[in-house]
Amino acid sequence: MILAVLWLTPAKADEGMWLPFLIERLNQRDMERLGLQLTAREIYDVNNSSLKDAIVNLNGGSCTGEIISPNGLMLTNHHCAYRSIQSHTSVENDYLANGFWAANYEAELPNPGMFVQFMIRIEDVTEKILGQVSSDMAAEKRQEIIDQAIRTETIQAKGDTHYDVVIRPFFEGNEYYLFVLESFYDVRLVGAPPESIGKYGGDTDNWMWPRQTGDFALYRVYSGPDGKPAPYAKENIPLKPKHFLPVSLEGVKENDFAMILGYPGSTDRYLTSTGVQLAIDQINPTRVKIREERLAVMREFMEADRAVDIQYASKYASVSNYWKYFIGQTAGLKRLKVYEKKREIEKNFKNWVSASQERQQKFGDPVQLIDEGYEKISLINIPFYYMIEAGLGVEMVSFGSRIAGFERVLQDEKLTDYKLENAVKTLKSAGETFFKDYNPTLDEKMFHTLLGMLKSNLEEKHHPDFFRALQTSDEQYFSDFQQDRDNDLPALAAYIYASSILASKEKFMDFLDNPELEKLKNDPGYKAAMSILTKYREISAERGAAMSKLGEGYRLFVAGLREMNPDKNYYPNANSTMRLTYGQVLGYNPRDAVHYKYISTVEGVMEKEDPNHHEFIVPERLKALHDARDYGDYAEDGVLYVNFLTNHDITGGNSGSPVINGKGHLIGTAFDGNWEAMSGDIAFEPELQRCISVDIRYTLFIIDKFAGAKHLIDEMTLVYPETEPAKKGRKARKKK
Ligand code: ARG
Repeated sequence: MILAVLWLTPAKADEGMWLPFLIERLNQRDMERLGLQLTAREIYDVNNSSLKDAIVNLNGGSCTGEIISPNGLMLTNHHCAYRSIQSHTSVENDYLANGFWAANYEAELPNPGMFVQFMIRIEDVTEKILGQVSSDMAAEKRQEIIDQAIRTETIQAKGDTHYDVVIRPFFEGNEYYLFVLESFYDVRLVGAPPESIGKYGGDTDNWMWPRQTGDFALYRVYSGPDGKPAPYAKENIPLKPKHFLPVSLEGVKENDFAMILGYPGSTDRYLTSTGVQLAIDQINPTRVKIREERLAVMREFMEADRAVDIQYASKYASVSNYWKYFIGQTAGLKRLKVYEKKREIEKNFKNWVSASQERQQKFGDPVQLIDEGYEKISLINIPFYYMIEAGLGVEMVSFGSRIAGFERVLQDEKLTDYKLENAVKTLKSAGETFFKDYNPTLDEKMFHTLLGMLKSNLEEKHHPDFFRALQTSDEQYFSDFQQDRDNDLPALAAYIYASSILASKEKFMDFLDNPELEKLKNDPGYKAAMSILTKYREISAERGAAMSKLGEGYRLFVAGLREMNPDKNYYPNANSTMRLTYGQVLGYNPRDAVHYKYISTVEGVMEKEDPNHHEFIVPERLKALHDARDYGDYAEDGVLYVNFLTNHDITGGNSGSPVINGKGHLIGTAFDGNWEAMSGDIAFEPELQRCISVDIRYTLFIIDKFAGAKHLIDEMTLVYPETEPAKKGRKARKKK
């Protein structure tokens, strides 16, 4: 009854990525109104364990994970684990296709280079960082003082602890917060469903609802025998976490309260109209066009050979994920008239400033300042994105950039054997990893395809200087490339890939066995890579100069906006720090006459099945379980739910975040956003923007019934629905 009354008040809680240590002040009452039963301290507490102690970021913020057992079991998305699953996959051990389930601790797979971070505490350090700056200071001077203060505070906060300390700007440099993090480096893969579940619907369904994807994977975090962080070692032990999330079998109903804690990567909610215009006119079309070519080249080779298909699976997925994102963002910005809305805000802001002498003094005309910055940026933006997408899209170039440090080592006149040996060892291991998933024939085609695009779309002054080798008139840029060279990029690529140490593992390792500076400097692949990098640096320096104007403009603009609307709770843009977003389980109306339900079922998996389309293959075992309705405890009234929607405010980096109910129990794992609101990183649309999550019951069903990995379920603390009399007594029972 009480709940029914609450439902009458329209929720406006959805928008906002809040700092967990401020929710007591800013959000607690609103959250309680929606159904939260915990205190703010149960969510974030420095001295006692709280929800935040069960949340980690992956690799500094690429994704989020949550601890769900007392033995360090960690849940995240399949797409977050994709690269690591792929790295363990071969044609013989095809974990991408068949899934992977460790039967016991010994069978779990280590992932060198991977780490997770827990958050120990947050502190407002605005005073300490900005205490010495004044409003009439030049931008460079200001930045210098800030950088120095950040260094000092960071060192002080770290003391002699093993913690990591980071200080980040918020509200475009108007506030600064300090984060103390604890990193664990031994993270092992425990379980992953086959792609036909974990990535069901593939690129076709990506960023879309209705959805039926089991986008989850399991890891285990290990500590040293003393419980402290330690590098991978056999004798490490499963982490004893400060907190782990109980797992709820209660399920979700429309309008239920829910919250998400995680690590959103970046948003641009204060972007001005000119910024929106540049995204639509320059950035997005450039990135989409180049990514289309990148994908086509990869596809050609992947379709021809399963081994290459495996090698490039993860690279392909990450290029295609944001290819589709940029298309959707442009469409959304236009359809939702975001440019016009931003203009309106800017007009009001200008009026507000001009109404008072004091405001004019304090803020000036930041929008004008921003526009001046953008005008400069617009001249260099397209070359910049060509460098990022096309130049660095060639693997020989991105790998080559990692060798540059080695060139400096070889140049060192006082180079000791010890130093050289170490550098060689590091590079050999980088080479092992790189070449395992590298196909030089594919990359050769990538090289002349992407650089061909760059050549015909950019002015000559933005070409890397090795393009000179393409002119018969030029002296020999590469000593022995001397065919009929006029603009024959494929021939140049063939020459480079046939001779470079970067295009062959054998040649690369041979070089490292006897590393000579001259050999490296004259290597055609390395030379081409360095030439592209040099051009890239030149272009980003030019762009960077304009960026500092923008920075100042945005700082003043955001400070002014907050002063203009003193009663509005502003929240800072995402910046890979832990945030909380809360709201409700909720469907939406994507377009006229259409309503989308808030939840999908396994029937949708069956409906979409298409044996002739690799994204819509349904595993036989899943079909058999479905035919027998063998859902265990994981169905509700005979229906097995798969994905559900909430109105949470999330973005990339939140992937894998726990969806938590009002009691602090896990009900789902967030994994995507929806097509109708792809402009959401720039402007949140409460009516349309939804977060897509895996229903935790589907995750448990796949682990238990599909994979037969019941031992993992037994580690968790399951919470059964309270209302079902038959299940009374099993509530919160720990199954061990
Ligand atoms: N769009 C999701 C995100 O950025 C990734 C989904 C991965 N699935 C896929 N089919 N590529 O978080």
